[in-house]
Amino acid sequence: MCGIIGYIGKKEVIPILLEGLKKLEYRGYDSAGIALVDQNKIIRRRVEGKISALETSLKKEELAGDYGIGHTRWATHGRPCEENAHPHQDCTGAFIVVHNGIIENYLAIKETLRGEGHNFETETDTEVIAHLIEKYYQDNLEKAVLRAIQDLEGAFAIAVISNHDLQKIVLAKMGPPVVVGLGEEEYFVSSDLNPLLSYTQNIVFLDDGDLAVITPSGAEFFDFSGNSLDKKIDRIAWNPLMIEKSGYKHFMLKEIFEQPQVIRDTFQGRISLDTGKIFLSEIGIDEKRLRDVRRVVLIACGTSFHSSLTGKYFIESLAGIPVDVEYASEYRYRDFILDKDSLVVTISQSGETADSLAAMRAVKEQSPMTLAVCNVAGSSIAREADGLLMTHAGPEIGVAATKTFTAQMAALVLLALYLAQIKGNMDAKTSLDLTQELQRIPHKIEKILHQADAIEKLALKFKYASHFLYLGRWANYPIALEGALKLKEISYIHAEGYPAGEMKHGPIALIDDKMPTMAIIPKDRVYDKTLSNISEIKARLGYVVVVADENDKDIRSKVDEVITIPSVYPLFSPFLTNVPLQLFAYYIATFRGADVDQPRNLAKSVTVE
Ligand code: F6R
Repeated sequence: MCGIIGYIGKKEVIPILLEGLKKLEYRGYDSAGIALVDQNKIIRRRVEGKISALETSLKKEELAGDYGIGHTRWATHGRPCEENAHPHQDCTGAFIVVHNGIIENYLAIKETLRGEGHNFETETDTEVIAHLIEKYYQDNLEKAVLRAIQDLEGAFAIAVISNHDLQKIVLAKMGPPVVVGLGEEEYFVSSDLNPLLSYTQNIVFLDDGDLAVITPSGAEFFDFSGNSLDKKIDRIAWNPLMIEKSGYKHFMLKEIFEQPQVIRDTFQGRISLDTGKIFLSEIGIDEKRLRDVRRVVLIACGTSFHSSLTGKYFIESLAGIPVDVEYASEYRYRDFILDKDSLVVTISQSGETADSLAAMRAVKEQSPMTLAVCNVAGSSIAREADGLLMTHAGPEIGVAATKTFTAQMAALVLLALYLAQIKGNMDAKTSLDLTQELQRIPHKIEKILHQADAIEKLALKFKYASHFLYLGRWANYPIALEGALKLKEISYIHAEGYPAGEMKHGPIALIDDKMPTMAIIPKDRVYDKTLSNISEIKARLGYVVVVADENDKDIRSKVDEVITIPSVYPLFSPFLTNVPLQLFAYYIATFRGADVDQPRNLAKSVTVE
């Protein structure tokens, strides 16, 4: 949901801002802009479209600056166009703002400011911030920012510069993420870590209610009352190579292929190979409290909601604890009821999804135990939960989540086994057998990845499909949902995920020779039932592709196309069945010429409601 960047230091500013924006582009890509201060002159350039359009436009001029800020936009208020692109400015052009978030009371502020003689150029909510700073400025930029943000309702991460108070970038955060990178005599501002990894690993994560003043000699931090803060410097283990394509055509494809390693990394140090014991004391919630957990609630959005659904099957089957899975965007507004022995787990790749964060905060008011499953250390959800179980997927750049989905399933299966073990619900032999089976999963995924060419050929047949139905049952029902989501978000083909057994209650009416079905049918407890559901589709001239066990020789005569997966313990089959569906969606999208890594209308991190 928009990316903001800033740099102050001795290097050339424009290349750093552009490189940074490219790494943030997955957050939004409908327009972009930068503003520089050159001695005491402000230079502002904006374009509609992607960062490449901004880069092309900047090449036409000889520009330089001492420091600057930039923005890549995902439109909320005001259509995507140059005029609405950030940075925004006040009436005089002296106060320049980039913003991620939404100012809910901007119309009221605009009206007041108009009455006071301010003129507005854009349809955006952000522009009011620049005018408020203009209004309150006396002799110091941070003081004006502190005063201006008192008038704002909503969510914001802002970076501000001005030629009235030079050599300064002022940041403020309430909601969306923003971090400061501390280099050698150079300082960086960014919405996330990715742009900073090539320059520094020393990062300060701003909290809500923090203000930062960045100058060439350092960074200072304050609360919104102006009191000085002593912020912790985190050292980040990610490295710049992790955010390169490494020869793959798209980040998404690279990230699909990284999944075996992601599982190994997420299991690393958490499973005893000799005994099958799970070590998760690192999560920071007292084992005794976890032993008393009687109910688990998993809250998440989108793909993370789907991994949470698989978590329900893992935890209920392995630990014997009832699990509810909830959309964060719904749960936050519910009159939910939680007991002190409920464990509420928020699952979020980014750790910044506004609905997930708000739902977790609402839960904390009733004070049961909260745990976060996150991929970004230092993110808001990771920091605010009582406990933290990190997924070790590394940075995910493709907007469509793939490897982080798999890492979330890996973390949730560990949690399920851990709860089972500490509650005494699982004997030693079962623990060992199951954890050994889990260790074999990465290799089995590698075998599926070797079939990528065959899946690509199959995908070509569906290049012109308009609709697709995805069916699965039991542990693979969530994978049907996830498979359909991947297809629709990157190829723009309408796809519906459905529990196979529910077909006959309505959706079967859709079946004809133009509605292909992708059915997931591993050898599990519902195999025969799923097979009957498939026969019902075949009887109505539906074209059926299945993901099936490689040893299932009979299936070939009953369906039109088969993608195989290695045999696996049925409860763990989602780790495998999901992978061909990711590849299938990926290849269809590439055949249709879609922008796989940056699908239209989407943004990686949804930091607005
Ligand atoms: C889909 C996708 C989204 C995210 C959702 C939650 O491919 O990426 O549906 O899963 O926006 O994001 P996180 O996990 O960051 O909370």
